[in-house]
Amino acid sequence: MEKAFCSFLLIVLLFLHYVMTSSAMTKTNITTDQLALLSLKSQIISDSSHFLDESWSPAISVCHWVGVTCDSRHQRVKSLNLSNMSLSIKIPHEFGNLSFLVSLDLGSNNFHGNLPQEMAHLCRLKFLDLSVNNFRGEIPSWFGFLHQLQVLNLRNNSFTGSIPSSFSNISTLDTLNLNFNSIEGQIPKVIGNLRELKLRGNNLIGSIPPSLSNASKLETLDISYNSLQRNIPEGIGNLHNMNWLAIQHNQLTGSIPFTIFNISRIEFISFTGNNLSGSLPNGLCNDLPILKGLYLSKNNLHGHMPTTMPNCSQLQLLGLTRNEFDGPIHSEIGRLSNLQLLHLGDNHFTGKFLSSELLQNFILLDSNSRDNFSY
Ligand SMILES: *[C@@H]1O[C@H](CO)[C@@H](O)[C@H](O)[C@H]1NC(C)=O
Ligand SMILES: *[C@@H]1O[C@H](CO)[C@@H](O)[C@H](O)[C@H]1NC(C)=O
Ligand SMILES: *[C@@H]1O[C@H](CO)[C@@H](O)[C@H](O)[C@H]1NC(C)=O
Ligand SMILES: *[C@@H]1O[C@H](CO)[C@@H](O)[C@H](O)[C@H]1NC(C)=O
Ligand SMILES: *[C@@H]1O[C@H](CO)[C@@H](O)[C@H](O)[C@H]1NC(C)=O
Ligand SMILES: *[C@@H]1O[C@H](CO)[C@@H](O)[C@H](O)[C@H]1NC(C)=O
Ligand SMILES: *[C@@H]1O[C@H](CO)[C@@H](O)[C@H](O)[C@H]1NC(C)=O
Ligand SMILES: *[C@@H]1O[C@H](CO)[C@@H](O)[C@H](O)[C@H]1NC(C)=O
Ligand SMILES: *[C@@H]1O[C@H](CO)[C@@H](O)[C@H](O)[C@H]1NC(C)=O
Ligand SMILES: *[C@@H]1O[C@H](CO)[C@@H](O)[C@H](O)[C@H]1NC(C)=O
Repeated sequence: MEKAFCSFLLIVLLFLHYVMTSSAMTKTNITTDQLALLSLKSQIISDSSHFLDESWSPAISVCHWVGVTCDSRHQRVKSLNLSNMSLSIKIPHEFGNLSFLVSLDLGSNNFHGNLPQEMAHLCRLKFLDLSVNNFRGEIPSWFGFLHQLQVLNLRNNSFTGSIPSSFSNISTLDTLNLNFNSIEGQIPKVIGNLRELKLRGNNLIGSIPPSLSNASKLETLDISYNSLQRNIPEGIGNLHNMNWLAIQHNQLTGSIPFTIFNISRIEFISFTGNNLSGSLPNGLCNDLPILKGLYLSKNNLHGHMPTTMPNCSQLQLLGLTRNEFDGPIHSEIGRLSNLQLLHLGDNHFTGKFLSSELLQNFILLDSNSRDNFSY
């Protein structure tokens, strides 16, 4: 008897729960958005420029508040842009009620604390910029519920933990910028369908996943200033859209996959400050017409400077300092009319130096110099 009563009660409770949640779902309107934004305003610790003080008032329609744009069809808040307004706020739970939000830019403020779980309800979000704030806590795995997200920028915050595997659920993700946080663990095997991946200045370990070579849309890859180890995967050379490849200041070993020098759209390559060995390919720049920067300083590279180096006609910056290169410096590189910086010191190059007239456009560091070339 008691058991049956409990079941009955459970059904009633479930029904009530259903009615309440579904009514909360269906009855949201612009008033809900207003309450959510007023709740955000109530959390303000400091609004030194008084942006919201004056404008965010119930006397004015929400759609006319500073930073707010409404969807003309639904009359709901579609985008919120409070970037660079010197705001010091913690995001309240009610913020998750802005269910029509497509674009949220809170960049360059002093937002702090953890992101509330309720933000997982913002499932229309396509653009989310929280960069240059003081957000903390582990990178939430609920980002994986934002199935329409295209741009996620969390740069320059204090996020910790590892990159959640749920990120692989966001198939629309195009740009992921997690630069300068305290993120640990490994680079996940799959993250969206990325065009831009920036993980610079974190505490990532392990190796560069070979699966990265399947990210065929990738144009920018910056995983510099981490503690990545082992080889650079050969398959990176298959990324035909790659334009910017920065993996400097890690602990990578092995040789440079020559396939990288066959990516015709690549403009910047930086491998400075690793432990790479091997030599440079002959024919360098025959297939790389637009290379502007090649930074290979502070490795264990050896061999001669490729005779085709003078074919790098767009080259502006060349760093080969502190390696084991030998053989002659081809004086023709002095004719590279775009060259601005040339760092060749601390190698075993031989032969006569470039004549001074060829060096008017750039700085040659002699073999005694200890440059701080960090790119
Ligand atoms: C929004 O819905 C509430 C009920 O949930 C209602 O009282 C209010 O008048 C509505 N506001 C607008 C602007 O439609
Ligand atoms: C937000 O506003 C700033 C300054 O007006 C602008 O630079 C930025 O592009 C805007 N963000 C979005 C997502 O439109
Ligand atoms: C922020 O605004 C200040 C002026 O108030 C401006 O100098 C600065 O460039 C802006 N920064 C960004 C990142 O937009
Ligand atoms: C908004 O969010 C809060 C906290 O998450 C919740 O208690 C409230 O019922 C939500 N709905 C409306 C219409 O404000
Ligand atoms: C991601 O997708 C998997 C399988 O498709 C699913 O089990 C998981 O709940 C999803 N996670 C998120 C955060 O969406
Ligand atoms: C981001 O963080 C880096 C490293 O701490 C710092 O050099 C850079 O100036 C920061 N950028 C901004 C816009 O604060
Ligand atoms: C690339 O993707 C294909 C198909 O999903 C898969 O079979 C292959 O193993 C992947 N390659 C790498 C290096 O992960
Ligand atoms: C680079 O591409 C050329 C043809 O465009 C090919 O002959 C050469 O073998 C390739 N080199 C590498 C290292 O993949
Ligand atoms: C660099 O790699 C060589 C092997 O190629 C190894 O003997 C050496 O210890 C490594 N140095 C560092 C600093 O990791
Ligand atoms: C520059 O490249 C062409 C092929 O594209 C080659 O024939 C020529 O020898 C190269 N020049 C030098 C100086 O290596």
